[in-house]
Parts: sequence; C-alpha cells; structure tokens
Amino acid sequence: MLVTGGAGYIGSTAVAILLDAGFHVSVLDDLSTGHADSVDSRARLIEGSLLDKDAIRRAIAGCDSVLHFAGKSLVGESVEMPALYMQVNVEGSTNLLDVMKEVGVNQIVFSSSAATYGEPREAILTEESETQPTNPYGESKLKVDQLLSERAVKDGIAALSLRYFNVAGAFKGSRGWLTERHNPETHLIPNVLKASDSHPVTVFGIDWPTADGTCIRDYIHVIDLIDAHIKALKILKNGTHEIINLGSGEGYSVRQVIDTASDVMGRKVPTRDAQRRAGDPAVLVASIEKAQSLLNWKPTKNLSEMISDVYSSTR
Ligand code: UFG
Repeated sequence: MLVTGGAGYIGSTAVAILLDAGFHVSVLDDLSTGHADSVDSRARLIEGSLLDKDAIRRAIAGCDSVLHFAGKSLVGESVEMPALYMQVNVEGSTNLLDVMKEVGVNQIVFSSSAATYGEPREAILTEESETQPTNPYGESKLKVDQLLSERAVKDGIAALSLRYFNVAGAFKGSRGWLTERHNPETHLIPNVLKASDSHPVTVFGIDWPTADGTCIRDYIHVIDLIDAHIKALKILKNGTHEIINLGSGEGYSVRQVIDTASDVMGRKVPTRDAQRRAGDPAVLVASIEKAQSLLNWKPTKNLSEMISDVYSSTR
C-alpha cells in the first residue's frame, strides 16, 4: 500500500498501525512538514513530492492501493498562500491519480476535510450539507473530492473521501509515541498543553455566536481515525466515489478544551484573548451516521483521552 504524507502526524500514525496489522507500506513524503524519523523503519520511504510524477512512480511500484494523506493542511496559512494550496493539494492529487491510472492502481482513500463545508448552515454537518469553503485550504480539498468523483466515472477508480473534523490525540506504538510535531504549531490542543504564564495560549475570538463566545469543533482521536481508514479500504467499489465524515459527532468550544486540559494536567492553563483568526468558521460538528452505517465504525476515545495522550507523548 502507498501512504502519501506518511511522515506527517496522521500519515505516520497510519503507517505504524498498518504495519502492525500486516500491510506492506511504501511512503511518499517530501518532508516539507513531515519528519523522516516519524516513519516506521519497516516501511519503505521515498522522499519526493506529488509534484514530481517520477517520484510517485517510484513510490507506487508494487502497491495496489493508496492512502492519500499528503498535502498542505493549515487554514490560516492557506489564506496567506492560496496558490501554494492549489498547487500542492490539487495539482499534486491530479498527478497522483494520473500515475495511478498509468500503472493500473485504482483504489484510493483520500484525506478530505470538514473545511470543505465552510460556515455551516445547520447544527450538524452531513455529507449532503452544502459545500461552500471559507478558506483556500477547504477549496483545495473540495476540488480534489470533485476530481475523485469525475475519475470514478471516467476511469472506474474506487475512491473514498474521508472528511476529517479536528484530529487530535497521539499513538504509542512499538517504537514510541507518534504525535503532532508542527513548527510552528497552530493546532489548539498542543498549544494549550504548552501554555505557560510567560506564553499563554491565545484564544482566537471570544465574540463568536456560541454559548461561551469561542469556536466549537468536533475532535476525533487519531487512532479512531486510522481505524476508519482500514475499514474504508474494505468497502471500496470500482466506479464509485463515497464521501464520509469522520468526527466524534460532538462539539466542544475552545474554552471547554482548555478546561478539559486543565483537568488532565491538574493545573490551570494560562490564556490570552485575541481577535478572531482569518478563515475560521464558528462551529464545525459532524454527523457520523454514515461512517457508522457504511464503515461499521464508531469512535472509542473521548476528548479527555485525546488530550491526555498528547500530554503523555510530550513528557
Ligand atoms: N485556536 C485557538 N488558539 C490556538 C489554536 C487554535 O483559539 O492557539 C482555535 C481556532 O481558532 C479554532 C479552534 O481552536 O477555533 C481549532 O483550531 P485548530 O487550529 O486546532 O484547528 P482548525 O479547526 O483550524 O483546523 C483543523 C485542521 C484542518 C481541518 C479542520 C476541520 O487543521 O485541517 O480542523 O475542522 F480542516
């Protein structure tokens, strides 16, 4: 199996879990944000970009399916650098699909995002909800979803997009912890855990139209997320493209995340209120009914476990 982006936080966790489950794994990663030492040594690592078809050809040799995690993934950065997001995410995915066709690989599970929906017009997002991204990151993921639908019809590939909500948590494998190692770190939970009196965590916006004024997100443990990928591989069908949301089905505000982290660590998290961050929607919560029925999957880990695993991984 080819895992693109297998040196990143989610990809490297997938690689370790897949290897433990007996899969042979080849990783393609340009190491722009990933880390070579996060890639389990039992996997074959090809350092290369999705913008380089030869690198994709080298990485896909001997594989019969693809888990496509690689891509730029920060909402804020995408507002600053929209062209980069279109190039890496859309052009890169197009190259990957072209090479898959060339070499006769037709199974793909793609890391799509809740950011494809934009500002929700209903409390809980289903796969039928309108897609109107509020940032270039979401636009780029939506374009790839559309491309997969086209290629399923045109080329008969078996495609499945998993629309992630907020992935959190860490995985302790046989070779130690795999966790988020972004630089700079923009995600809420690692930043909350790092906060100190001299560097309090910034709360982006306290005037959102939510109960406590902070943004609401749906957090899913990375282990539950990868479990859903393994189940997704089993239901792939030639000529079809399914879209499935992956979250826990419950929303937590930024303040609730901070309070849960305070409980986990046994100390108060220092915070600093600030302006809203560009590109953020107020609320993103998944309906996970389709994931439950189609994949026979359900989340097993709650917010406190996610935070506690991240906390353990950094100590
Ligand atoms: N936040 C803070 N302070 C921080 C970091 C984040 O207040 O230091 C807030 C954000 O404004 C947002 C919430 O916490 O309201 C979550 O922010 P993250 O940066 O952790 O995550 P995002 O919701 O921006 O994005 C994540 C992934 C995207 C994915 C999205 C889907 O990075 O790839 O979830 O919900 F599309």
